[in-house]
Amino acid sequence: MHFGVQAMLLQLHRVDKNNYFREVPSGIENYRLKMQQNNRISALFGIQYPLIQAGMIWCSGWELASAVSNAGGLGIIGSGSMYPEVLDEHIQKCKQATDKPFAVNLPMLYPNIEEHIQTIIKHKVPIVFTSAGNPKTWTGHLKEHGIKVVHVVSSVKFALKAQEAGVDAVVAEGFEAGGHNGRDETTTMCLIPMVAKELSIPLIAAGGIGTGKGMLAAMNLGADGVQIGSRFIATPESSAHENFKQTVIDTPEGGTQLTLKELTPVRLIKNAFYNEVESAYQRCASQEELKALLGRGRAKKGMFEGDLINGELEVGQISGLIQEIKPAAEVVEEILDEFRAALNEQQQSKFQF
Ligand SMILES: Cc1cc2nc3c(=O)[nH]c(=O)nc-3n(C[C@H](O)[C@H](O)[C@H](O)COP(=O)(O)O)c2cc1C
Repeated sequence: MHFGVQAMLLQLHRVDKNNYFREVPSGIENYRLKMQQNNRISALFGIQYPLIQAGMIWCSGWELASAVSNAGGLGIIGSGSMYPEVLDEHIQKCKQATDKPFAVNLPMLYPNIEEHIQTIIKHKVPIVFTSAGNPKTWTGHLKEHGIKVVHVVSSVKFALKAQEAGVDAVVAEGFEAGGHNGRDETTTMCLIPMVAKELSIPLIAAGGIGTGKGMLAAMNLGADGVQIGSRFIATPESSAHENFKQTVIDTPEGGTQLTLKELTPVRLIKNAFYNEVESAYQRCASQEELKALLGRGRAKKGMFEGDLINGELEVGQISGLIQEIKPAAEVVEEILDEFRAALNEQQQSKFQF
């Protein structure tokens, strides 16, 4: 981020008024430190900005994670689509590519989870984001090894369970999000203030955030930081297939749908495979038929191998706003620039009636 001292101090005064950062620092050398200290997520992870790149199967390997961490956010390796030896390699490469903190996302339904956990501990990965399972199962073990644990939820009830299980922070993910999702269809707009009201540990908002204005909105609703998935698919560093990246850009508003609720709800682009699922619903297909239709390897086929017809293409509603493939560091910079500009506008009476 490049801006002059004066502009920076001016912004910091305004930021301070909104209480995102409690003190006004005395100069440039203190800026980063204060920003880190005064935001609960930045302080927890030791990062510059409370902006987290989500763990995403087939899309977020070491290249994306290290690029986001180097840009001052927190990059996450999505281990749910990796064999244990692949995760091992990605962690090693990530460590070589950045000296900043990064995390691993661990979907707890993963069959080789114990091997993944051993790999994470062996390489002293500082932060783990768990999802899709009971946070009680592994939180204690990971924390005994000095690892910070964050759990992903989609409701107030599960946010409180995660807090009770001893996690350090919670990601609350709304209905707009790409990938697997909660059954209750609670939107980010409703979920974040409800969780913020009940939770005492830091809260990260996810689902439908891909711009600085979105980030500011989520923080105005009570989040301490944001987790962004879909926006980072459309970056050169993402391991997604080029066909999928291009489709994310081409997907308009209304181009995705949450489906397969009987199995695990997932938000997909409405491609030929999605149409097959819809036809199955219309003929009242059983769970077994749906399972057979989904089969194995659909997500890999679509997102990693670029089969736009037969593959499962997971992306969020925010795809309607994603228009360009650009480097992850530029995405981070653009979001933060827009965040600051929107914050200034907010404080300059734009919202006073
Ligand atoms: C392609 C894709 C794959 C995902 N894979 C995972 C995953 O493996 N584990 C997980 O916890 N969440 C996964 N998610 C959800 C993201 O971590 C994140 O919470 C979500 O993308 C946020 O919403 P957004 O897409 O609107 O930014 C995935 C999302 C996408 C789009």
